[in-house]
Amino acid sequence: MSRLDSFISRMHSQRAVLNHIKDQSMIGPDGVILEIGLGNGRTYDHIRELFPDNRIIVFDRAVGSHPDSTPPEADLILGDIKETIRRFDGKNIAFAHADIGTAYPEKDAKTLTWLPQSVAAALRSGGIAASGLPLDHPELEPLPLPAGAEPGRTYFYRKR
Ligand SMILES: C[S@@+](CC[C@H](N)C(=O)[O-])C[C@H]1O[C@@H](n2cnc3c(N)ncnc32)[C@H](O)[C@@H]1O
Repeated sequence: MSRLDSFISRMHSQRAVLNHIKDQSMIGPDGVILEIGLGNGRTYDHIRELFPDNRIIVFDRAVGSHPDSTPPEADLILGDIKETIRRFDGKNIAFAHADIGTAYPEKDAKTLTWLPQSVAAALRSGGIAASGLPLDHPELEPLPLPAGAEPGRTYFYRKR
């Protein structure tokens, strides 16, 4: 598969999971959402369209998003997510979306030393996680992927 096809498949999978979470009403209107990896702001923009009433707190090292999809300053947390996400331990987050995979296995292996634990610690019981990297953690129960999402492109969990 070409890298273009692989990218398109990842985007389709991301969107299918986000839309499924909305369609199945998996997040109440009062639930706080974490967007882990702002990047260009495309998934942030999609999430805020799907969940207009929810607060979305967004993480990255620096703002690199399009001006139309840059979060308000109050909802933006800049710095190394490995450190900044710690303040959300025990904060009963409803949904965490993480898109910080790089396709460089050695870099992703480092991220995986802290990301699953950090997401599990932030979520409330019953909270949802969707991630481009697998989140292997005893408190995160894998959920079946919806139609349109390809295994290995996106990972989907509920906190026990
Ligand atoms: C693939 S991009 C996210 C793309 C985004 N979902 C979108 O739709 O535009 C990943 C982002 O995560 C950020 N990132 C990755 N690891 C990070 C870390 N440890 N701390 C802070 N930011 C990180 C990168 O700077 C990059 O902007």
